[in-house]
Amino acid sequence: MEPGKRLTLNCLGMNANQVGSHDTTATSVAWSLYLLSKYPAIQEKLRAEIREHSLFRFDPSARENQQRLENADADQLPYLDNFCRESLRYIPSIPTTVRQSIVDDKLGEYMVPAGTTIYILANAINRLPQYWGTHGRRIQP
Ligand code: HEM
Repeated sequence: MEPGKRLTLNCLGMNANQVGSHDTTATSVAWSLYLLSKYPAIQEKLRAEIREHSLFRFDPSARENQQRLENADADQLPYLDNFCRESLRYIPSIPTTVRQSIVDDKLGEYMVPAGTTIYILANAINRLPQYWGTHGRRIQP
């Protein structure tokens, strides 16, 4: 690259969506690892499930068992699935988003005129007791 030239996404061969999706995915993984470090019981349970289903990752001799290899399907890991969903609920990597209303409307009992800026707070909604009951403030994959 020539000295003095600005580095753009084009130079990197990336578009805004690729940057956005990398960032959300990386942030979600980072928070998931944080949660696993904070809740060792969850980490233990998850490790046990992965060991059970993908023993070949830990035990080279298991790589010779054709049946086990064929059964090692990531979709057969319900606790991992639950944990990923629960991690996204508990600490959403996009905690808020914003919209502008285009027409007059009603939201519950509130009149919302066209042009109103509306903040959608996923991090608050994802723990509301009316949706999640009393466990909303706890992580429970
Ligand atoms: C854990 C990972 C991800 C999270 C938490 C996430 C979250 C989100 C959220 C909250 C939005 C809506 C933003 C808004 O409209 O204000 C969004 C939009 C979008 N995401 Fe992701 N995303 C993730 C991964 C990805 C990946 C991997 C891709 C592509 C390969 C992707 C592609 C898109 C696209 C194309 C939109 C715009 C959709 C539309 O407006 O019609 N995302 N994402």
